[in-house]
Amino acid sequence: CLLGAAGGAGAAGMAAGGLAGAAGRGWAGDDVPPLAAVGGTSVPFHGRHQVGITTPPQAYGHLVAFDLRPGAGRAAAAGLMRRWSAAAEAMTAGRPPAGDDQIALDAGPSSLTVTFGFGRSFFAKTDLGDRMPAALVPMPPFPGDALDHFRSGGDLWIQIGADDPLVAVHATRILHKAASGTAAMRWQMNGFNRARGATDRPRTVRNLMGQLDGTNNPHPFAPGFDAEIFAADTTGPHAWMNGGSYAVVRRIRMLLDTWEKLPVDRQEQVIGRRKDTGAPLSGGTETTPVNLAAVRPDGALAIPGDAHIRVAAPASNGGATLLRRGFSYYDGPRPDGAPDAGLLFIAWQADPTTGFIQVQRKLAGADGLTRFLRHESSAIFAVPGGAASGSYVGQALLE
Ligand code: HEM
Repeated sequence: CLLGAAGGAGAAGMAAGGLAGAAGRGWAGDDVPPLAAVGGTSVPFHGRHQVGITTPPQAYGHLVAFDLRPGAGRAAAAGLMRRWSAAAEAMTAGRPPAGDDQIALDAGPSSLTVTFGFGRSFFAKTDLGDRMPAALVPMPPFPGDALDHFRSGGDLWIQIGADDPLVAVHATRILHKAASGTAAMRWQMNGFNRARGATDRPRTVRNLMGQLDGTNNPHPFAPGFDAEIFAADTTGPHAWMNGGSYAVVRRIRMLLDTWEKLPVDRQEQVIGRRKDTGAPLSGGTETTPVNLAAVRPDGALAIPGDAHIRVAAPASNGGATLLRRGFSYYDGPRPDGAPDAGLLFIAWQADPTTGFIQVQRKLAGADGLTRFLRHESSAIFAVPGGAASGSYVGQALLE
């Protein structure tokens, strides 16, 4: 599920600029504009919140988790966060980071965002157990989970997003190298969305089931958004979470061979929205509010009882609200011949216990979509607030 371009954050926090090179020349030697809007767009690294939460979803995403090496404690972790933040700040502004390998030399920042998080295991290893927020709970098991331990969890997490693939890989490589000696990569997952400019106007992203995905996300400028998405417990030992949020990461494989056998009208019943327009089955257009009470002429609910949008809706979950902002993945065939494809689902919320966990408990038992999904990895991270200029992400915890 993704942050809808149509109804989503718009260009929040984005600015043109950060040009790294001068006028470019086309491959055939033709004069071309210096840097198109895609390359020249930068998302400022510093701010109250980290970037990559309300930033519109980029075309390429890399999710990477690291474990601290044996013996690396709080001081080593602080050094790492300092190096990572400096590299992220430079790259998001379109400047080469320390120890650059020139992979992205000709490109502008291309909306690069780098977002850092801490897993539960990070706090024990850095002797900061008393600073771990209560909201960073262990993820409970859910019915139907098929989790791979080696691609779950992690002491540290980085979410990298950019609208250019070389820029995204460059950032991943630089941050991986900067971890050397302090932390080892535990897992990496690579995903994508739509490229900017691929549609006639900004539109909500489609996922690999073919649905418009992200339509009913909470809007960053709506009243109540900050309280729903950004951490609430930010006093005393948890003051370092001021401006922070919690990310739940789930690799969710889609059983596409089974799904695609279902006629489109049945697929629409499973979600509760039309596939082509994204309009709710209660009527209207993509952005028309969902009417869960609407009934068809035959007396049946317009949005079926087990439709995904009914079961997942805040109204069905005591108001639980998530910001869904993920990436699709398509990693070729599995040994059984089925596509290893689906959604790198990322849910942002003020508190996972009243956010993702509450909703997923409901979905796992009652959602018609779960027949077509396998949750194959899981992780949860505390994502601190953004760094002020001159400081690094997590400094208030680690200094
Ligand atoms: C809505 C797809 C997993 C929570 C939607 C919509 C689609 C969709 C197409 C309707 C458009 C929209 O509002 O974005 C999927 C797919 C999934 C998935 C393909 C897995 C691969 C999840 C999970 C959760 C979740 C794991 C939470 C635990 C929601 C919520 C909504 C939603 C809260 C909005 C409901 C409303 O209208 O209020 N999803 N979803 N989804 N989904 Fe999912």
